[in-house]
Amino acid sequence: MPWTAVRIKAAKGREKIVCLTAYDYATARLVDEVGLPLILVGDSLGMTVLGYAHTLPVTMFDMLHHTAAVARGVQNALVVADMPFMSYQVSVPQALANAGRLLKVGAKAVKIEGGELRVPTVCALVANGIPVLGHIGLEPQSIQTMGGYKVQGRTPDAAAVLLRDARALEAAGVFALVLEGIPAELAGRITASVGVPTIGIGAGPQCDGQILVLHDLLGLIPGARQPRFVKRYAELGAAAKVAIADYKQDVEQGRFPGPEQCY
Ligand code: KIV
Repeated sequence: MPWTAVRIKAAKGREKIVCLTAYDYATARLVDEVGLPLILVGDSLGMTVLGYAHTLPVTMFDMLHHTAAVARGVQNALVVADMPFMSYQVSVPQALANAGRLLKVGAKAVKIEGGELRVPTVCALVANGIPVLGHIGLEPQSIQTMGGYKVQGRTPDAAAVLLRDARALEAAGVFALVLEGIPAELAGRITASVGVPTIGIGAGPQCDGQILVLHDLLGLIPGARQPRFVKRYAELGAAAKVAIADYKQDVEQGRFPGPEQCY
C-alpha cells in the first residue's frame, strides 16, 4: 500500500518514520525500493545538485523539474516537494498556486518553513486538498536573519517559541513536522506535546522519525561541509572518482573498448 500523508500521521508512536531526500529519477528509485515511507525533494538540491552556496536561489522551475523526475521513480513513498524561497511567503494565493503546480507534476504534499506565521498558509493549503509538512527550528531559507546555520531554541524563551510554533502548526493541519537543528531535549518535549509525528534532522533521537540529505549519507560530494548531525554510511563520491580515473586510464592506454565491448 503506497504511503499517504494520512498514513504517515497515523504512524506516530507506532513505527520510526525514516525519510531521505532525493532529487532525480535514479536516486528516487533507490530510496523507494528500500521501502522508505517519505522522500523529500528538498530545496537542498540548490547545494547538492545545482552547486549554489545555499537554498535561496532555488526557483519554482527547479523544484518542478526535479519533483517530476523523482515522482517518475517512486511507487510507494510519499513524495513531498519543498516550496522554494519566496514561492509561498508573499501571499496565501501565491502559496496555493505554487503548491498546486508541485502537486500537478507528481508531489503528494509540500513542505514550508516557518512557525505560527505560516498558520494562514497551512490552513488554506490543507483546506484545498494539499497536505503540508511543517519545518521549524533551523530554517535554511532564513539564514540571513538567523545569522547562519545555527542551532535554534537554546534559551528558555526561544524553546517556548518553538513549542508554541509546533502546536500552532499542528492546529493548522500539518500532517508532520520537521525539527531541524534544535537541542535533543527540546525536540523530545515538542514530540511529546504534539499529536503529529516529528521528523528530526540534527534534533536528536526522540523524534518520531529522522531525515537526512541523501548526498550527505552517501558521501557523494567529497570534501563537502559536514554538519555534526550527519552520519556517513558510504563514500560513494570517492568510489566514483576511482572508477572515473580507471576509465580514463583504460581509454588512454587502449584497454577500453576491448573485444567484448565491440560489435
Ligand atoms: O531541503 C532539505 O533537504 C530539507 C531537509 C529537512 C533535509 O529541508
